[in-house]
Amino acid sequence: MSTHRIEVCPGAVHLPGYLSLDEQCVLATRCLAIGTGPAGWYVPTVRGGGKMRVHMVCLGSHWNARTYRYEATRRDYDGLPPAPLPADLAALASKMATDAGMCLSPDVCILNHYGPDGKMGLHQDKDEHPDTLDAGVPIVSVSIGDTAKFILGGLARKEPKTMVLLASGDGFVFGGQSRLRYHGVAALLPGTGPPELELNGRYNLTFRQGAV
Ligand code: SIN
Ligand code: MN
Repeated sequence: MSTHRIEVCPGAVHLPGYLSLDEQCVLATRCLAIGTGPAGWYVPTVRGGGKMRVHMVCLGSHWNARTYRYEATRRDYDGLPPAPLPADLAALASKMATDAGMCLSPDVCILNHYGPDGKMGLHQDKDEHPDTLDAGVPIVSVSIGDTAKFILGGLARKEPKTMVLLASGDGFVFGGQSRLRYHGVAALLPGTGPPELELNGRYNLTFRQGAV
């Protein structure tokens, strides 16, 4: 494990190469088991009726893409309760936050699988509890597989944006003044992930506090 940290802007910290290849392999296997298990992958349909360009699974609490609220069951899909957030994954996210100089006790994780043409539009993560947002409690993001062109903007949609390449094993932590920055994924760089992962595309896990 490396704890090399790059502060992209105040409160937004890139942790390149945080996970070793072995750790990435273990996590990729885990993500596949979660996604193909009970209450596994689905493609969310957002409020406007469009389908997201990722397959999603929530752990600990369900993010409803129609209401933009966290809920106890997948009311916008199949009504199933989400699987619990595993304690070891929560502990990993807490450690990453600490290594980035922040503090997180996550109660939810959103696991996304991006296919080779997966992407995510510019948005803010602002559906967690107001106390979490006010305190700047960070989001911790972990990337596995193909490198993503991650876009980080400002607090308004039109502000200038920077691109951060998130490679397999990288962490990205955004809290404090950066907690409500707009962000998204413009594209993947297909075929750039370690072949040992046997992963077509990318997994991204975002750990959050204040969903329940
Ligand atoms: C997200 O914003 O929820 C996901 C970001 C990513 O995939 O890197
Ligand atoms: Mn987000």
